[in-house]
Amino acid sequence: MTQTKVTPAQGKLGILVVGCGAVSTTFITGVLMARKGLTKPVGSMTQYDKIRVGRGADARYLHYADIVPLAKLDDIVFGCWDVYPQNAYQAAMYAEVLKEKDIEPVRDELEKIVPMPAAFDKNYAKRLDGDNVKAGLTRWQMVEALRQDIRQFKAANDCARVVVLWAASTEIYVPVCEKVHYQLSDLEAAMKADDREHIAPSMCYAYAALSEGAPFIMGAPNTTVDIPAMWQLAEQTKMPIAGKDFKTGQTLVKSGFAPIIGTRCLGLSGWFSTNILGNRDGLVLDEPANFRTKEVSKLSTLETILKPDVQPDLYGHGNDEDTQYYHKVRINYYPPRNDNKEGWDNIDIFGWMGYPMQIKINFLCRDSILAAPLCLDLCLLSDLAARAGRYGIQRFLSFFLKSPMHDYTQGEEAVNHLYQQYTMLKNAIREMGGYEPDEEID
Ligand SMILES: NC(=O)c1ccc[n+]([C@@H]2O[C@H](COP(=O)([O-])OP(=O)(O)OC[C@H]3O[C@@H](n4cnc5c(N)ncnc54)[C@H](O)[C@@H]3O)[C@@H](O)[C@H]2O)c1
Repeated sequence: MTQTKVTPAQGKLGILVVGCGAVSTTFITGVLMARKGLTKPVGSMTQYDKIRVGRGADARYLHYADIVPLAKLDDIVFGCWDVYPQNAYQAAMYAEVLKEKDIEPVRDELEKIVPMPAAFDKNYAKRLDGDNVKAGLTRWQMVEALRQDIRQFKAANDCARVVVLWAASTEIYVPVCEKVHYQLSDLEAAMKADDREHIAPSMCYAYAALSEGAPFIMGAPNTTVDIPAMWQLAEQTKMPIAGKDFKTGQTLVKSGFAPIIGTRCLGLSGWFSTNILGNRDGLVLDEPANFRTKEVSKLSTLETILKPDVQPDLYGHGNDEDTQYYHKVRINYYPPRNDNKEGWDNIDIFGWMGYPMQIKINFLCRDSILAAPLCLDLCLLSDLAARAGRYGIQRFLSFFLKSPMHDYTQGEEAVNHLYQQYTMLKNAIREMGGYEPDEEID
């Protein structure tokens, strides 16, 4: 075991959440209930998982908190921003994810979490029309106002550290533009010039967080921190960034199931995923420009797991023009189901001598119930990474994300394979705990 350089998790950890909707309120309510001993944080790796440290006769299986210094649930203080003024109690009731009996015991605490006015631009989410916004500000003024919010929150709540988590609506698709998004100086110039086309409000939150010494996590598929200019800022401020898009239902299944096909050397001719969803997230995603952002994120999963160039007989169609299997993802807004998403996957595979077979997966999940533990883990592990002196893209957090960030300017590939991602996660925890990161990624 080597000496670890991670600073202890002393003092309060502020978690500032962008968006006070279904995911955020389910996350916050669960943490408040868990620390009163009224529920269990099921699904959270930081609270439940045990990993091996040491080898052979020295091997021990420990919880993360027994390997690295993690912030305790009791030390967390929550704050948020939202376009709508409802406090976290009202928002949790509105979301209808949790039953009243699971919200009431922490009602007082939730009522005190009142959203700060949002940095918002209706062009980025047309279906939202709340008025709790920082009106009439340029992009640069948004950054300054958000920095002020973070400073005030930190001081008012006596926080030693702050993490900023985006759990707000998916913004419209902002394609990466080299002229604006590659250099930090260009990004700053665009913010100062109030370039609303290339600077999404989410970029203002990220810029503000990193500048205030807070890690930033992107839980939606927005481009926000997935641009070289933000990597530069993260490097300059020595802050971790993580993204993008929580890996909850269908993509979790995909990244866990595709390895079965690949490992068994079966062929794939098509994968069709569709789902119905009726919450506000579904409403925003019903807008084609917002869905495009999600689609790009969801489509990236398979191609790095089942690679046509590595196994052309299995994952290509045998000619240069058309080497991919058919992969389609659909999301349908269907209000009666609210947060209880239902997903269908139809997988067309082929086996010995090319004979076709089909697999059908029908996942009746609860979106926010799956997302909440990811929020907790991403916040605690980003805070840990900052204390361990890690900055920039945190690839070890890919496990929690649908479209994991990687340096695409250097030809780096994303790791989407669930079990490879898990190995990266375990190795990072070991390393930060002063143990050898001794597992190979095969
Ligand atoms: N639940 C899941 O399984 C899952 C998985 C992956 C990603 N996500 C993403 O997480 C995000 C949150 O999902 P949700 O179900 O809680 O949605 P939601 O609509 O219930 O909540 C989002 C909230 O964000 C607010 N908001 C929008 N723009 C904002 C801005 N600029 N500043 C501050 N607040 C803003 C909205 O007013 C809304 O209250 C979405 O982007 C969704 O795509 C969710």
